[in-house]
Amino acid sequence: MLSRTPPMGFNTWNTFGEEISDSVIRETADAMVDLGLRDAGYEYLVIDDCWSKRERDPESGKIVPDENKFPNGMKAVSDYVHSKGLKFGMYSCAGTRTCADYPGSFDHEFLDARTFAEYGADFLKYDFCFKPETANGPLLYRKMGMALKACGREILFSACNWGSDEVNTWIRSTGAHMYRSTGDINDSFASFRDIALSQVDNLAYSAAGCFNDIDMLTVGMYGKGNVGSAGCNDTDYKTQFALWCMFGSPLMLGSDIRKMNDYILSLVTNKNLLRINQDEEARPAFASSGKAGKTPCFVKLLSNDEIALMFANLTDEDAHVQLYFENIGITAASGFGLEMKDAFTDECIGVKKEFMRMRLAAHDCAVYICKLKK
Ligand code: GAL
Repeated sequence: MLSRTPPMGFNTWNTFGEEISDSVIRETADAMVDLGLRDAGYEYLVIDDCWSKRERDPESGKIVPDENKFPNGMKAVSDYVHSKGLKFGMYSCAGTRTCADYPGSFDHEFLDARTFAEYGADFLKYDFCFKPETANGPLLYRKMGMALKACGREILFSACNWGSDEVNTWIRSTGAHMYRSTGDINDSFASFRDIALSQVDNLAYSAAGCFNDIDMLTVGMYGKGNVGSAGCNDTDYKTQFALWCMFGSPLMLGSDIRKMNDYILSLVTNKNLLRINQDEEARPAFASSGKAGKTPCFVKLLSNDEIALMFANLTDEDAHVQLYFENIGITAASGFGLEMKDAFTDECIGVKKEFMRMRLAAHDCAVYICKLKK
């Protein structure tokens, strides 16, 4: 079964946009292995938009790689990625053109799926630009879902219609293994905060086999790249990564991995956070207040009777964040409290009862893995 837990990997779009090439992919694959990212679970290396020529091959009708960017063809790139013990991902679009105006798969779904299988692709991101007006959105995803089943290779299907057409109510039935639920992220605190908060009511539309994808991470971009803006600082990235882990989103790195610094590396390989994201029961998180707010506490039940808690200050000033245990089902009368381990320091802070309140700096967060204890 694919996508038993949220898929993890890297995608070229956030940093490279159209500046992709054979060497960028090979160097990224090398870095994913050398830095230990592959061994931490980041297995898919996905080439996003802009990899092909502007038009299909007139004779075969196939999409063809741009030979200036990929002079050895796509199979050679895929073989290299596989030789590093990684999986290879491609990109296309349900409309007539991709978002950056390259050929889309509309009316060529079965041919394109076979082409991706010939490349040795293990993953397909499938976008939603240039959809003919009369075309039915869900049916377009059903077509590619069928085409992938017919292509002779197991390919993870990553849908990307940005949450339109109430995607969460039907996408799982198309065979998709993950689905974008929001518009595009950019590298700013406001962007990722708003994306995350927009999905608080949709966290339960995500489970083994098909996960709600809140977009590729900007963690470690510092304003550089293709979706750059002001950029973020390390506190912001800590909170972004913790939110993505708590929300059970796929973890697709988007920064230039070849230049990843030690802080970002330790953040994205943090064993406690990855355990929360990859928990086998894949239960949705919920907000303790029942709704999205700027000083939320999110709760996610894990296997082995553990409970993950995240306290976040999503305001631009210092703030108190608090949780009343009664609000998440731990009654005072039960006598139980929570034994808490800090996910960032591994420090055990003992058993807390009835409530937890803390002061957090602007944009900061705290994450704990807890057990019920008397
Ligand atoms: C957008 C998509 C982005 C990226 C881009 C490529 O629609 O949401 O993640 O794939 O297209 O042009």
